Amino acid sequence: MDARQYSIPASRNRDPILGVLKRVIAPGARVLEIASGSGEHAIHFAGNLSGVAWQPSDPDENARASVAAWIEHEGAENIAAPIDLNVEEQGWEKDLADGYDAILAINMIHISPWEATLGLFRGAGLLLANAERGPGILYTYGAYKRDGEHTAPSNEAFDAWLKGRDERYGVRDLEEVERAANVNGLRLREIIEMPANNLSLVFER
Ligand SMILES: C[S@@+](CC[C@H](N)C(=O)[O-])C[C@H]1O[C@@H](n2cnc3c(N)ncnc32)[C@H](O)[C@@H]1O
Repeated sequence: MDARQYSIPASRNRDPILGVLKRVIAPGARVLEIASGSGEHAIHFAGNLSGVAWQPSDPDENARASVAAWIEHEGAENIAAPIDLNVEEQGWEKDLADGYDAILAINMIHISPWEATLGLFRGAGLLLANAERGPGILYTYGAYKRDGEHTAPSNEAFDAWLKGRDERYGVRDLEEVERAANVNGLRLREIIEMPANNLSLVFER
């Protein structure tokens, strides 16, 4: 059976995101992708970024099966088998022996409890301290509020939809996310406006 999943948002945002990653991810970087989802991003990014070694992950079993099926289908040699990672779990970073040069979390911060974001930054602060190709980079992508306000009606509707799904989910305040980064030794280096009222955030360790 073919476990590959297809994500319409991922097929739409993959090229704008790749444009940013080409600039911020060093050639040959060791990349940890949190919340890989279908795995289509991993295929696209690992196939188009020079010399990277890609580690996909997701806590969801079906997502990991999809990532593995995409890797096999594409014969991707620079993508490792997906691992079971939940950034809400204390010490999630401890089992990852090697350091990473970059960590990605695309469309995860709003669709998980706030504790997952806190865990993401805590673990990223530790793992990226061992970056070898320039400063460690944490890249996040998604919808954010700015100064407590939604930046578009579509984001406000999205926030309501998320909270209807799980009241712990929601479009986060950029300033709160930045505070969570700062206490873990990460500095918000760049904010890039993306299509459909999304933002790319580039944090540096
Ligand atoms: C909307 S999907 C995004 C998938 C992919 N990054 C993309 O943009 O196509 C959200 C993903 O976050 C993952 N996720 C949710 N909570 C998580 C957590 N605590 N730690 C890691 N991943 C999580 C889900 O399993 C799901 O695959």
